[in-house]
Amino acid sequence: MDLGINGETALVVGASEGIGFETARGLLEEGAEVLICSRNAGKLKLAADALEQACGRKVRWFAADITRAEDVVRLGAWLAQQAAALDILVTAVGGSQRAAFEELDDAAWSANYEFNVLGTVRVIRETLPLLKASSAGRIVILGAAGARMPYEHQVVSNVHKAGLIALVKTLGAEFQKYNIRVNSVSPGRTLTSLWTKRADKLAGERGIAPQEIIDEFSQEIPMKRMGRPEEIAAMVVFLASHKASYVTCQSILVDGGIARGLL
Ligand SMILES: NC(=O)c1ccc[n+]([C@@H]2O[C@H](COP(=O)([O-])OP(=O)(O)OC[C@H]3O[C@@H](n4cnc5c(N)ncnc54)[C@H](OP(=O)(O)O)[C@@H]3O)[C@@H](O)[C@H]2O)c1
Repeated sequence: MDLGINGETALVVGASEGIGFETARGLLEEGAEVLICSRNAGKLKLAADALEQACGRKVRWFAADITRAEDVVRLGAWLAQQAAALDILVTAVGGSQRAAFEELDDAAWSANYEFNVLGTVRVIRETLPLLKASSAGRIVILGAAGARMPYEHQVVSNVHKAGLIALVKTLGAEFQKYNIRVNSVSPGRTLTSLWTKRADKLAGERGIAPQEIIDEFSQEIPMKRMGRPEEIAAMVVFLASHKASYVTCQSILVDGGIARGLL
């Protein structure tokens, strides 16, 4: 299937590993010009090198922490020097914080809000002029299944990821006048460093092997396994493509069936 994005320009934020990295790879494989961003310059350069090796094309990169407003302004200025228009923006930064409500103070709520919501809002704001310059811009935001089926002990990210669904619904309508589609992909439990670190920590606390933690959390998933980052990226690339030309304002679950609400 030709996704129709050959030669288009894409920025993937949060691309040095995990779902963002696999999304960058997927877009490159479809012929897009891909620029990548995340915080750690060393890690990002290694990722750009790996993508170049795999796909045989130059991958430009810029290090920025999207929880810092000034970094995102610098990212926008850099991007404007690299391209006249941006066709695809993917934001793949965020995560959950395992904590009960009573353990969370204002500082914890604010930090998680910056990480999961405000960082993405800033990236959209700074890249919007270039997205408007595209004939048909697309934004895809990584949400989480926890927004649709709130997880125990993850109140702060349940709330903030639900906010991203509202953001997608609002911006998808508001940006129609610019012919920009806005969607999100909501992953379930996906084997990236986010889960390997969590499994290591919980395994250490309980004195068992990390794989036992992965197996335990997999049992709650109808498909009885965690997702692979490339399985999430495949949906992101589809939504970012012209094959999804009538899809906007949507949040699509890719979760092995774990979120079983009817709506
Ligand atoms: N994995 C899951 O089970 C799961 C489940 C539900 C939702 N999700 C969502 O899917 C998205 C991607 O998750 P993932 O598992 O692929 O994460 P990951 O493997 O931890 O990768 C996160 C990427 O974002 C970058 N990053 C982190 N903080 C950043 C910041 N402040 N500014 C710029 N870049 C930053 C990281 O690089 P640096 O550290 O170098 O910055 C890395 O490239 C997130 O929105 C997450 O909430 C994941």
